[in-house]
Amino acid sequence: MKFLVTTYHHDLLKDYERLSGFYEAIREHAHGIVYDIGAGSGILSYFAAPYSKTVFAIEKDEKIASYAASNLANLPNVKVVHADALSYNFPLQADTIICEMLDTALIDEEQAPIINKCLKHLKEGGQMIPYGVINGVEAIEMDSETIRYDENYEYKTKGRLIIYDNIRFKEKINEKFKKTFKIPANGKANGLKITTFTLLTENIIAGPTQMMNPPLLIPIEEIKEENYMIKVTLSYKMGGGLNTIKAKIKDIEDQNT
Ligand SMILES: C[S@@+](CC[C@H](N)C(=O)[O-])C[C@H]1O[C@@H](n2cnc3c(N)ncnc32)[C@H](O)[C@@H]1O
Repeated sequence: MKFLVTTYHHDLLKDYERLSGFYEAIREHAHGIVYDIGAGSGILSYFAAPYSKTVFAIEKDEKIASYAASNLANLPNVKVVHADALSYNFPLQADTIICEMLDTALIDEEQAPIINKCLKHLKEGGQMIPYGVINGVEAIEMDSETIRYDENYEYKTKGRLIIYDNIRFKEKINEKFKKTFKIPANGKANGLKITTFTLLTENIIAGPTQMMNPPLLIPIEEIKEENYMIKVTLSYKMGGGLNTIKAKIKDIEDQNT
């Protein structure tokens, strides 16, 4: 089957690792009344249709919603709705909510505010796809003085990954993130790399793929020591955009203290 898509959604469809993970999760868990929030081309609604009573495919962009309507026209149990999920009136309580508006640490897209809004429309025992995300951070040496996604950009890892946040989409998300933690480093470090892992279900985990959650590189003050710990306060607003990110070094400690 050939889908009518924008260039961006075409790239999303070409990312087979992303799609196959979602397909597995949907096949395992989608049932009953399903909402596919941010439906885009409609691919995830297409996957869900055989396992569901009704799928509501909600898409904010008018042109993209019209493409989804055309792509899904032959599926009688799928209804495409052109609406902003943040102001949409859910007609029925959901057995399954699918929402793929992921981005690294949920900072630059509306996944967190939308999940928070959707939660009250999910039946008890209902399913969220994806199930959640896990965020990790490590020290790096980078050339850029601005925040950027790694997309083929050169940097060197200077420590090891520390998991600093664990988010479950069936629980309300605190959109304002602020935490102080220590990360190990060795040699020159002037940046942090954030990596987001997606729990498609409780048991299926996906790392960053070509089109999902590219690692995010954040410059920090330069440090050059041997085997040290950087005590850093990281803050951002989920759904607030990359310019809400702040990374502040509080202290440098020896790794043995
Ligand atoms: C990352 S794309 C995912 C598309 C599709 N679900 C897929 O997996 O290929 C996210 C989609 O969400 C839509 N979107 C963004 N904000 C939205 C909102 N507030 N309400 C509904 N759709 C939204 C975008 O227009 C875009 O098509």
